[in-house]
Amino acid sequence: MSRIKIIAGNWKMYKTIAEAAAFAYEFVAAFDGSEHEVVICAPFTQLAPLKRAFSGSAVKIGAQNMHFENEGAYTGEISPPMLVELGVDYCVIGHSERRQYFAETDDTVNRKLKAAFAHGIMPIMCVGEVLEQRDAGKAFDVVERQVVDGLEDIKQKDAERLIIAYEPVWAIGTGRTATPEQAEEMCAFIRRIVSELYGKDTAEKLRVQYGGSVKPSNATELLSKENIDGALVGGASLSPTDFKAIVEF
Ligand code: PGA
Repeated sequence: MSRIKIIAGNWKMYKTIAEAAAFAYEFVAAFDGSEHEVVICAPFTQLAPLKRAFSGSAVKIGAQNMHFENEGAYTGEISPPMLVELGVDYCVIGHSERRQYFAETDDTVNRKLKAAFAHGIMPIMCVGEVLEQRDAGKAFDVVERQVVDGLEDIKQKDAERLIIAYEPVWAIGTGRTATPEQAEEMCAFIRRIVSELYGKDTAEKLRVQYGGSVKPSNATELLSKENIDGALVGGASLSPTDFKAIVEF
């Protein structure tokens, strides 16, 4: 089964609107389409300008977080309908930085996944172990729990469209990439978990990204692996040149 690879940039809390516009101008000028899906997940303030800047190109936009309620007294939060109104295609859910600094849990991840599917936003669900867990031989248990709990009561038809990003926390922003073998092993493991939960067909449709210090020099090796269907790219997605090189791996 051939799955379309999806390369998503995760800008985190970087770039002003002016800087985002400059990126879009440079990237679109140099990028003439791809057989892969290309997404930029930007801060909320840049989503509307980026949607305009990327119109007429194949680049899609994503948010990096959202609340699970449609509206309410949740000061500082952004709801799924607000993202839909902007034409957002994707949303990163449960990034390790959200789990670490903003108390996100597998339960909030699960609620956000359900809300995303209910509104037609494609979630990119992030999972991954921290270094101590890997060193203690617990990486697979940790990731299995995150996947199983995150997907609780998610319908089969939604699971088929899901994207899971495996991001070992020790490889994020550290320059230390998981080896292609380590990344492949965990991405294959994630597919097996989904196969146990939803059956083989759904697992074959599932796209599993790797994220953690992906850069032009290691993208080809990682993305050539059988079970790695894309990349979630932090630091290197801030540069139009580097991101284009990764997209064209
Ligand atoms: P990095 O970040 O590519 O800078 O390691 C990846 C991520 O956090 O999604």
